[in-house]
Amino acid sequence: MALVILAAGQGTRMNSDRPKPLHTLGGVPLIAHALAAGAALDPSRIVVVTGHGAEAVEAAVADLAPFAICVRQTEQLGTGHAVLQAAEALEGFEGDALVLYADTPFIRAETLTTMQAARAAHDIVVLGFEAADPGRYGRLILQGDRLERIVEAKDATPGELAVTTCNSGLLAADAATMMRLLRAVGNDNASGEYYLTDLPALAQAEGLSATAILCPEAETLGINSRAELAAAEAAFQAMKRAEMIETGVAMQAPETVFFALDTWVGRDAEIEPHVIFGPEVTVESGARIRAFSHLEGCHVSAGAVIGPYARLRPGAEIGNDARIGNFVEVKSAEIGEGAKVNHLSYIGDAEIGEGTNVGAGTVTCNYDGVMKHRTIVGRGAFIGSDTMLVAPVTVGDRAMTASGSVITEDVPEGALALGRAKQVNKPGLAVRLMERLRAIKAGRKG
Ligand code: UD1
Ligand code: CA
Repeated sequence: MALVILAAGQGTRMNSDRPKPLHTLGGVPLIAHALAAGAALDPSRIVVVTGHGAEAVEAAVADLAPFAICVRQTEQLGTGHAVLQAAEALEGFEGDALVLYADTPFIRAETLTTMQAARAAHDIVVLGFEAADPGRYGRLILQGDRLERIVEAKDATPGELAVTTCNSGLLAADAATMMRLLRAVGNDNASGEYYLTDLPALAQAEGLSATAILCPEAETLGINSRAELAAAEAAFQAMKRAEMIETGVAMQAPETVFFALDTWVGRDAEIEPHVIFGPEVTVESGARIRAFSHLEGCHVSAGAVIGPYARLRPGAEIGNDARIGNFVEVKSAEIGEGAKVNHLSYIGDAEIGEGTNVGAGTVTCNYDGVMKHRTIVGRGAFIGSDTMLVAPVTVGDRAMTASGSVITEDVPEGALALGRAKQVNKPGLAVRLMERLRAIKAGRKG
């Protein structure tokens, strides 16, 4: 199976400089949803047809699906013309091609599998749906399970417009047959475009067969405007919350929790209200994410407690039973099993050993203005409150740092490091100072 993902259209109605496939839904670009659904078919080739904002879309694709091939459609002459741009990239490919749209994020993997299965009995398989409001959708003209043709709304007769079974845009066929038929598609229609939807009729003229399988309309929802994108986000979150609850995740106020497409949370984990998940987060069974925390690109192990008000950034790796408390930010850092960073700290580019306690207000000073440096703290160590760990620096196992220390040199195992000015007490000086200041103030008034 090869995927051909159409992502060249302008998306005028988004009213945006950003190409439509890159608008985000569930924390990831729209096109990532199409790629994720298609991935379920284990495609051996993925071709993405780009056009508007091609550079940016291609960069995102390279990141999301490094083995995908991007081909450019320099002029948007229609969906048929767009698919034909994939011909060269599919040269020599033996198997089916499935056409998907980058702006149709809710297609389920099961639906694609059903389409694939229907190919056993038909040369062309189109995905359709019963439309509540058929509007501008292409109409499927069916005779039993035979798909005679697809007629675009603009080209339809009043009788054809009354048909409510519509085209989702997804189509599967043998790749070589698809390309051969597409070369015969003309643009003599109301839009002057090369329609992919001409394929069923062309196939039948050659004695090939075409059929349609139907899915719920919600799956075929395409994003054309910001209002539709916002509605899609709400629908996505509702689905993801329901899925989480179904798999055994505890949430007191699921409507306040926001997930990303790939968020994975284990059974019996607890998510308190107002938690936001960015992409690439995994939370193991029995972990607890407390209210108002923000997580992205991180892993939280079993029994760990995060927040309230914690921020885990990419590369945060939180060990079993570890604690990350309020106003703590962790980035590119491993927090060992049972370690505690409970209050007001920044831990970046660091390793904190098993069972170590990091006091309030600790900061890993990881950036010298040009380069990032690492901080390594061993096991069972005690970092006093308000310690500045100036990286690169290492604190050994069971070592301590005194509160308020600025640690610029390595601390050996078991040592106590004092990196602060020595305290001096001046007897009676506070009282004498106050008296003098009050006298000065009184003198000014008089
Ligand atoms: C298309 C179908 C219609 C179907 C509807 C479902 C055709 C002719 N019509 O209509 O039957 O009901 O989708 O939403 O196929 N694109 C390109 N290059 C182009 C044109 C389009 O890459 O030259 C991409 C767009 O970016 C988009 C997708 O193809 O992702 C669909 O294009 P769009 O113009 O939205 O098609 P519709 O007119 O909605
Ligand atoms: Ca559309």
